Amino acid sequence: MVTINEHYLKLQAGYLFPEIARRVNEYSQSHPDANIIKMGIGDVTQPLPAAIITAMHAAIDEMASVETFRGYGPEQGHLFLRDTIRDHCFRNRGVDIESDEIFVSDGSKCDSGNLLDIFGNDNTVAVLDPVYPVYVDTNVMVGRTGKANSDGQYDGLVYLPVHAENDFQPELPSEPVDLIYLCYPNNPTGTVATREILQKWVDYARENRSIIFFDAAYEAFISDPEIPHSIYEVDGAQEVAIELRSFSKNAGFTGIRCAYTVVPKKLIGYEHDGSPQALHPIWNRRHCTKFNGVSYPVQRGAEAAYSPEGKQQIEELIRFYMNNARLLREGLTAAGLEVYGGQNAPYVWLKTPGNLSSWEFFDQLLRESQIVGTPGSGFGAAGEGYFRLSAFSDLENTEEAIRRIEASLASKT
Ligand code: MLT
Repeated sequence: MVTINEHYLKLQAGYLFPEIARRVNEYSQSHPDANIIKMGIGDVTQPLPAAIITAMHAAIDEMASVETFRGYGPEQGHLFLRDTIRDHCFRNRGVDIESDEIFVSDGSKCDSGNLLDIFGNDNTVAVLDPVYPVYVDTNVMVGRTGKANSDGQYDGLVYLPVHAENDFQPELPSEPVDLIYLCYPNNPTGTVATREILQKWVDYARENRSIIFFDAAYEAFISDPEIPHSIYEVDGAQEVAIELRSFSKNAGFTGIRCAYTVVPKKLIGYEHDGSPQALHPIWNRRHCTKFNGVSYPVQRGAEAAYSPEGKQQIEELIRFYMNNARLLREGLTAAGLEVYGGQNAPYVWLKTPGNLSSWEFFDQLLRESQIVGTPGSGFGAAGEGYFRLSAFSDLENTEEAIRRIEASLASKT
């Protein structure tokens, strides 16, 4: 008799985004003419920058000739890309990361789940609440939690609530934790962490021999020069933090797939008898055993994101999405909503009007305004009463969504 991994049975109803898609499909089937504006999942809408397209075409052409054809590449990524990342993402900010500490992959979502392979199941995990659901679900899948309670919170996880009252900045855990997930700029709240806040977390991790998973997938959207783009800009972080980065949101790679994870050689984990072990060789072993590398044309495309033209085209893309974020922020504030985020991140996070629950507001917005957003409670119990709108949209749709929300709110006063 084949047995299953029963931890999967603890997972709460469908992953958030499929559940949203289910409700939207149901609505569109009964309203086939509805012009639905989708601002739910943070998926990019604009085409790839021209410099990236050119580089990928050239790489495909290389594959067409026996002299330049390439088969398997290094599992960790081609050196041309890892060196470029080292120089343009870290050395340019005074951070001394080596190319062989950078592992190129097919996505930060995959990386954040895969990293759990190299940590013991008896580690205590802390997440912010609300949080990107993948961090929680992947820990449930490997058996690091008990069952969920009626609020959807899992036994064994340490939840650090963030809300308007604490400025969306969590307290340090009151009990020692081993693995800490931080995401800045934050998904879903769109808020950022200052250098002082990051230093506080790094100091905590050093004192408690913990590891921080720092998800920086949205760093390119930071406009405030005082906000660090990498946790390694903070003293001591290379001893305690793994950083996840992605080409999805800045370069528009959600359908192309390329990301990277930085595992510094200074990172230490412990055997049960307390013996220290470097994490870098263990992750390298895992990565090379279970992954055969990102395709060559995609890595050439990612490299082109750092060429002078690529950089300029990506800056334009970021400006485009952040203009949507600004319009949403200003328009919805003017319409009387309490709005957060959207200044250094492509998400705005708003308080639902009239004390509606997050899913009630989701249904109302879909029914009355044909707009799809993401219910805050889908990111965790402390997200109840909040709602996320994504700036990854077209300008016309963003403006139209603001008009529709204004009209719907006005009709209720
Ligand atoms: C989101 O909408 O939160 C993101 O698109 C999810 C992701 O990047 O996987």
